[in-house]
Amino acid sequence: MLVDNYNRSFPYLRLSITEVCNFSCTYCLPNGYQKDGEKSFLRQDEILRLVNAFVELGVWKIRITGGEPTVRKDFTDIAKMIGDMTEVSKLAFTTNGYKLKENAQKWRDAGLNAINISIDSFNAKKFHDITGHNRMQEVREGIEKAIEVGFEDVKINVVLLKGVNDDELNAYLDYVKDTPVSVRYIELMQTGDNLTYFNKFHLSADHIKDQLIDKGWVENIRSNGAGPAVNFTHADYAGSIGLIAPYSKDFCTGCNRLRVTSTGDLRLCLFGNVGIPLRHMLQSDDQKDDLKAAISKQLDYKASSHFLALGDTGIMTNLSSTGG
Ligand code: 5AD
Ligand code: SF4
Repeated sequence: MLVDNYNRSFPYLRLSITEVCNFSCTYCLPNGYQKDGEKSFLRQDEILRLVNAFVELGVWKIRITGGEPTVRKDFTDIAKMIGDMTEVSKLAFTTNGYKLKENAQKWRDAGLNAINISIDSFNAKKFHDITGHNRMQEVREGIEKAIEVGFEDVKINVVLLKGVNDDELNAYLDYVKDTPVSVRYIELMQTGDNLTYFNKFHLSADHIKDQLIDKGWVENIRSNGAGPAVNFTHADYAGSIGLIAPYSKDFCTGCNRLRVTSTGDLRLCLFGNVGIPLRHMLQSDDQKDDLKAAISKQLDYKASSHFLALGDTGIMTNLSSTGG
């Protein structure tokens, strides 16, 4: 198992397979995805070698992310390729929910068993204002479908935005009353691209936490290796509410993930200052030992926490480039 100098272990890999996204969320890609020359994203054979190496280093959970991973024509093939590896017991993906309704069954059959869907507002107009797409209803139907076809773990991501969706907690609570999903409020993160936006819309997740506690929700004890989210449950509700607050103290002590970008750079931290190129070691099967050694060695350089409080967002320009 991969372990760093702070005794954190890393069973979880977040793998971006594209930077392209068809949505233009105000906090991420306000002008939509801008093509950056002829960027070439990891091919299937490269992805297979990469995942094999991580699996041999003890990784058992993989999240396919982007950009919007499902815009890749071979998304289902990639999912199946990883889903066929018996060592990968949890295979998740993050999606904006576009075409989820039509494809949920196919993606479940390919071996995906966990899904995170972004839905920043249950108000159709606000959803449109945030994402640039009038698809709130369609995404909601996609979520229903994902539950129906047997995704074991369905999570809804909500980026908390001051004055935009900070008054919608009750709508999400109504939703999880009978729906067995976890709604996760993500505190807006500053990125290289969004400083003005961040200053205007950032709101601490404590705003939600205080309301939850008032309403009788209980914070669960964080289990070992659970990751940085804090989860709240309530006996009368089928679902749960999670808070992801990167600015809170101790956020990084629960870190259990590594990231690889869609062009094959290892990122030790979402807000780190280095990307370690791995792609040249993904070109033939006999490079596996070198690749594994390179990954293990890099963990010695993983910092104890990020420097966001100092305004240092590292080299990340936006989440679609690093993999959310
Ligand atoms: N701050 C917080 N969350 C973000 N996401 C994208 N950019 C940001 C940001 N600056 C979220 C998306 C998605 C997840 C992958 O990351 O909304 O839910
Ligand atoms: Fe881990 Fe970096 Fe995220 Fe902190 S900011 S939880 S160290 S990836």
